[in-house]
Amino acid sequence: MYNKSILTDIKDRISIVSYIGERISLKKTGRNFLGLCPFHNEKTPSFNVSEEKQIYHCFGCGAGGDIFEFVMKFENQEFPEAVRHLATIAGVALPVFEKNPDNAEDEARLRKRKWCLRINEIARDFFAEALGKRELGNDAREYLKNRGISKEFLTQHFLGFADNSWDSLTLHLEAKKVPLELACELGLVRKRDTSGYYDFFRNRIMFPITSPRGDVIGFGGRALGEDEQAKYMNSPDSLIYHKSGSVYGLDKAAPAIRDKGFVILVEGYMDALSLMQEGIDNVVAPLGTALTEGHLRLVGRYSRNMVLMFDGDEAGIRAATRTLELFIGFGTMPKVVALPPGEDPDSMVKKEGKKAFESRMTETVSLFEFFVDNLVRQKGFDPAGRVAAIGEAVPFLRMMKNPVEHGVYAKILASKLGVDEADVRKAAAAKTRAAKAGIVPDGVAPGLSEGVFSAERVLVRALLSNSELVPEVFEKISPDDFRDEWCRTVALMFARNMKEKGKIDIGGLISETGDALLAAQIRSEAMQAPEAEEDEILGLIKDCVSLIVRRPAKERLKSINDEIRRAELDDDESRVVELLKEKNELALHKNG
Ligand code: UTP
Ligand code: MN
Repeated sequence: MYNKSILTDIKDRISIVSYIGERISLKKTGRNFLGLCPFHNEKTPSFNVSEEKQIYHCFGCGAGGDIFEFVMKFENQEFPEAVRHLATIAGVALPVFEKNPDNAEDEARLRKRKWCLRINEIARDFFAEALGKRELGNDAREYLKNRGISKEFLTQHFLGFADNSWDSLTLHLEAKKVPLELACELGLVRKRDTSGYYDFFRNRIMFPITSPRGDVIGFGGRALGEDEQAKYMNSPDSLIYHKSGSVYGLDKAAPAIRDKGFVILVEGYMDALSLMQEGIDNVVAPLGTALTEGHLRLVGRYSRNMVLMFDGDEAGIRAATRTLELFIGFGTMPKVVALPPGEDPDSMVKKEGKKAFESRMTETVSLFEFFVDNLVRQKGFDPAGRVAAIGEAVPFLRMMKNPVEHGVYAKILASKLGVDEADVRKAAAAKTRAAKAGIVPDGVAPGLSEGVFSAERVLVRALLSNSELVPEVFEKISPDDFRDEWCRTVALMFARNMKEKGKIDIGGLISETGDALLAAQIRSEAMQAPEAEEDEILGLIKDCVSLIVRRPAKERLKSINDEIRRAELDDDESRVVELLKEKNELALHKNG
């Protein structure tokens, strides 16, 4: 294989914009060039090419990469062929044969990945077989039968059973010559304190989690009864599984999603399975976590028309409204199907059957309306309640970048609350520094809370599109300061990239991720940022950095107040003095 410096040499000599521009028509818009995506059918262009970063990305179908990836996809070539093709154009001579440590590392990683997938497959088959066994699988089969899952269906979906023996899977893997430390990384077995391993999943119905390609990347295990401490246990994140970037059922649902032009998002494995069994098969579920940006990006590649179907209880309503910011940040407004209290999609479809259930999908409201209705219910329709409700809804309006969208929902909010639209618009008009920098929508200031507009996210996004600022910022902050997993991953990549090259090379960084989803996410972040004044960007970055580096002191300050109160109650005067001293010092630093 070719080494990195040759590949970089080729890239440096060819302009990705000219190369692609000779094949499809591109128009300059802002920093990027824009055209119709050659990889999916579209009427409005969402295919972006960046000269500066030497990458392309389609916001419609998620396709993207560097020039090599474009050639492979567009000309239908394998990697070596694409390299030869581009080397000829670039006038770069290729060595006849070459082996180097970088590739050895890639190969080892690839081999490990393959092993991991294979181990999960072995486990999946083992669980499936156990479910079919006389005696051993009886209770589990009975349970699934009672929940209305047919025999054919559970075979089709590779449902299984992990028995209660503590070591049957461990022994089976051993017999198959599986390295148990790898199985341990995948969360299938755990290390004993003494020596050896034991089964992680016990007495559970097993749901294999698959990638869009159908590879088994993890498992969810449901306790057979209701008496277990944890109803579900799920595989931990690993080399092949990231729960915030995977959803249950996507490989099976993908054709139906494309066909029907929308996707239903439910909360649980059983909800997804139940609907699928009824033939409502454009359905997926996140895995033991709230919805994340990663989920939306993944699912959004198949359709951006989304229908949320959460449980019809308070928790379900809260879960739905909490996702509003996420969806606005992602740039699509989902619809919500509100289920009656006490029902979830699984129970509902069983109760009323496919037809009645499907008719619910014609009685949807937008998530924004659902949110506002819920605010009114909570705050009341008296004047004070309405003012409070508007106060809570306006920040979401401000997040909407698209003026048409903004206008439509401002009107809805005004009419639902019986106020003048002009007043709502006025309230939503304030601009913050972050909004002027174009990284976050109008009126939103990055904060420390999690979510799309957290200081960490905003900072990483700002840096992805202004990578020349990375070295300077990393003098003040280190990857360890990031708590959001995704941000920390990118920060670590920045740090490595800087160490290796002395500067940031976004294209190179993306091609080294070794994780297609992460690469796509970084690409789309790097491409998304609109033009902004340098001052605004610098100011925004400064704000975010200072929020993040002062966080520990802030948190300590908060806990100190509690401790002081406790020490006072205990009449521990010397402790109070000590704490007050620490508090003063912290307060000094906080503003410094
Ligand atoms: P639910 O409690 O609604 O479960 O949790 P469910 O899918 O409807 O399952 P049944 O009908 O009781 O069998 C929704 C999702 O939350 C995650 C799982 O992904 C589950 O499908 N979850 C729930 C966990 O990860 N751990 C838990 O202990 C509970
Ligand atoms: Mn349920």
